[in-house]
Amino acid sequence: MKFFIDSADVEEIQNLTDTGLIDGVTTNPSLITKTGRNFLTVIEEICSIVSGPVSAEVTATDYETMIREGEKLSSLGTNVAVKVPLTFDGLKACKILSDKKIMVNVTLCFSSSQAILAAKAGATFVSPFVGRLDDIALDGMDLISDICEIYSNYPSIKTEVLVASVRSSKHVTEAGRLGADIVTIPGQTLRQLYDHPLTDKGLDAFLKDWEKGGQSIL
Ligand code: G3P
Repeated sequence: MKFFIDSADVEEIQNLTDTGLIDGVTTNPSLITKTGRNFLTVIEEICSIVSGPVSAEVTATDYETMIREGEKLSSLGTNVAVKVPLTFDGLKACKILSDKKIMVNVTLCFSSSQAILAAKAGATFVSPFVGRLDDIALDGMDLISDICEIYSNYPSIKTEVLVASVRSSKHVTEAGRLGADIVTIPGQTLRQLYDHPLTDKGLDAFLKDWEKGGQSIL
């Protein structure tokens, strides 16, 4: 399973990329605005840090302008994936951009029927938002299960399932159990994945016992 970082914070992305565990980055207009920085500059900086796909979202709602914005965003780096919303115009823009061999991440997906259309439109990635479905008392991971099952019936579908709106380590492990291709996670969720009190407790005990022996490795 691939791990993308869901962030536009360049310093955070640099720190997490240094772990060697990160395969890409996703941004969205909210994350970009939160930085207070120029959108195009931030995407160029992220593309210089991360070799994997970097999602940059259009903000137009009509497909003609989406295409113009998408081509501009794509010119910022060979690893830019243009994010378009799962709307009628977004699907039209996805088809045209993907036919131009531009990577497209179709976002704001909340149903398996939407995911089928994203694949039909040639999306490189589809981003189902699991956390926001949980927020309205649905089970976001049921959607991932449905999409993975449907996509697996058609070997011609190359669209990767990019689980988004991830709020917990449970979302990540469930995504792995279901065979989703990618999870995109905020930095604090990545830290949840490795933090465990028994690991800390066990390490403390090992080191206390080691100190008693008075040995050193180097
Ligand atoms: O990539 C989508 C993600 O940023 C949305 O997350 O927690 O706002 O639903 P959230």
